[in-house]
Amino acid sequence: MALLSAMQGKAALLVVALAVLWLAAGSHAQLQNGFYKGKCGGSDVEVIVQGIVKARFGRDAPIVAHLLRLQFHECAVNGCDGGLLIDGPGTEKTAPPNLSVKGYDLIADVKAELERRCPGVVSCSDIEILATRDAVALAGGQNYAVRTGRRDRRQSKAADVILPAPESTVAQATAFFGKLGLSQMDMVLLLGAHTVGVTHCSVIKSSRLYSYGGRAGATDPSLDPYYAFVYKTYVCPNTASSDDNIVFLDDQPSALKVDTSYYKNLQKRRGVLSVDQNLYGDGSTRWMVDMLANSDNFSWLFPVALVKLSEVNVLTGTQGEIRRVCNTFN
Ligand code: HEM
Repeated sequence: MALLSAMQGKAALLVVALAVLWLAAGSHAQLQNGFYKGKCGGSDVEVIVQGIVKARFGRDAPIVAHLLRLQFHECAVNGCDGGLLIDGPGTEKTAPPNLSVKGYDLIADVKAELERRCPGVVSCSDIEILATRDAVALAGGQNYAVRTGRRDRRQSKAADVILPAPESTVAQATAFFGKLGLSQMDMVLLLGAHTVGVTHCSVIKSSRLYSYGGRAGATDPSLDPYYAFVYKTYVCPNTASSDDNIVFLDDQPSALKVDTSYYKNLQKRRGVLSVDQNLYGDGSTRWMVDMLANSDNFSWLFPVALVKLSEVNVLTGTQGEIRRVCNTFN
């Protein structure tokens, strides 16, 4: 009996050991914390990225907004795979929603420096995620760890670029994020990225200011009437020449800071895009906005959601490639 249970014990140990080995073997093809440690000669990849982002942020603080949007448009289309960075006819970059995406030059600068130090090691998709992380921390957000080891996809097609419209309802936006494996709470947190950056009058003129619901002259009633007045009078007058004027997505003094004022503005009906204000108009998300506006939970929950976004449909192991330059396949 004792012999039998000792044998069973050994068998159980063997099963556990095999399971650990199997998991460890599997994890080679997964993202890891510090994936590049010791892989770039004497250089610390994350320190190099951070140095370049910091220098850029010092002279160009809106880079944080460019990089956050870039991460979304990258990861929401076939995953965080560097597909957005490819130049050429018919690539993701040429699709209409991506024409106003910026920050590609920063990614190229980081890549050039890393190639100089350790050619063929660091993927463009990892650079996007690391650079965004560093910019968020510089703009007042919390620092957070990201796992690395992504590889770059050898595919980039404009036709794949399907992103939610700025007038999306909560249900439409939730369905979109759901397909990425992200929850409604993740979505509300990620839209908090609109705490930085700008949009253009062309995006809100017809839908919110001058022909809400397709009715000529109608203004969106969910927009604070004083803000509607200011936009119509000063920022986005009803002439074609105002189309390219910029509108801060958050209050101007806070438009470069990662903070909770985005959610506070939604409570005051001052969200700029319909998709933003809808988060407060819809009962399913209103309590989340209230919770984020009235607490400091955004500071730690935003990174959690960004990390989830950064791991959507990644390539790892021997999949894809490590590009030599980010805007061209090898
Ligand atoms: C339903 C989802 C979303 C919609 C409909 C949406 C829509 C938009 C639109 C229309 C603009 C302005 C573009 C322009 O006028 O040039 C914008 C800007 C921006 N978006 Fe979103 N967005 C969404 C989700 C996100 C997410 C998840 C992030 C990041 C995590 C993000 C980050 C940004 C940032 C930072 C800007 C400002 C960019 C800059 O100033 O360079 N957005 N978004």
